Amino acid sequence: MKKIVIAIDGFSSCGKSTMAKALARNIGYLYFDSGAMYRAVALYCMQNGLIEGEQINCDALRERMKEIHITFEADPGTKDSITFLNGVNVEREIRSLEVSKFVSPIAALDFVRSEMVKQQREMGKQKGIVMDGRDIGTTVFPDAEMKVFVTASAEVRAQRRYDELTARGDTPDFNEILENVLQRDHIDQTREVSPLKKADDALLLDNSNLTREEQMQWLIDRYNELVSE
Ligand code: DC
Repeated sequence: MKKIVIAIDGFSSCGKSTMAKALARNIGYLYFDSGAMYRAVALYCMQNGLIEGEQINCDALRERMKEIHITFEADPGTKDSITFLNGVNVEREIRSLEVSKFVSPIAALDFVRSEMVKQQREMGKQKGIVMDGRDIGTTVFPDAEMKVFVTASAEVRAQRRYDELTARGDTPDFNEILENVLQRDHIDQTREVSPLKKADDALLLDNSNLTREEQMQWLIDRYNELVSE
């Protein structure tokens, strides 16, 4: 059967990563989380004094981009993809609310995006991959054979994020999360470089009222249609 590139884009906290990961596992593809790469850059800034107060030191970050190496490895047990920043496992730290606060302005910087896009295209040279993000179907892989644009209401998304953080032992504030979701939507959609938008040829998936099983069936059906053409 032919191997294709599957691009999954959409709003934050839509369950894109969970969905993309499950799809990849189902069809035997490799999964790449492009958001994790921007999160790792944000974490790097936090760890290296490149954020003073709320301000990102863009000149210093531009200088140090070449020192930032992001790689993925499969967890030997679960086979889930783990993000490494300069050889250190940062999978847990990049999911913190603190990183979520700074990641959108960092992902809006053109020199950060061009470096990440370069690395993502490298990862996509092998077909048989699922990559999720914001600009995968529009900028990174405009020729991807299957493109999906995922959306859900802001409240549903904030609740999912809240449940996720609670499940791992954090004590989040729902309103703070909702605020963060809305703020990220705004920044992601209005930034100058690669704003979040549905590619004309992407399939629209609103999962506000879908179970994970229904969603997976929908994806597999679309995938099967495409590879059997
Ligand atoms: O999907 P996520 O929430 O982990 O993404 C983190 C941030 O990175 C989010 O603010 C949007 C940004 N991002 C991006 O600009 N382009 C991508 N391809 C993936 C994520």
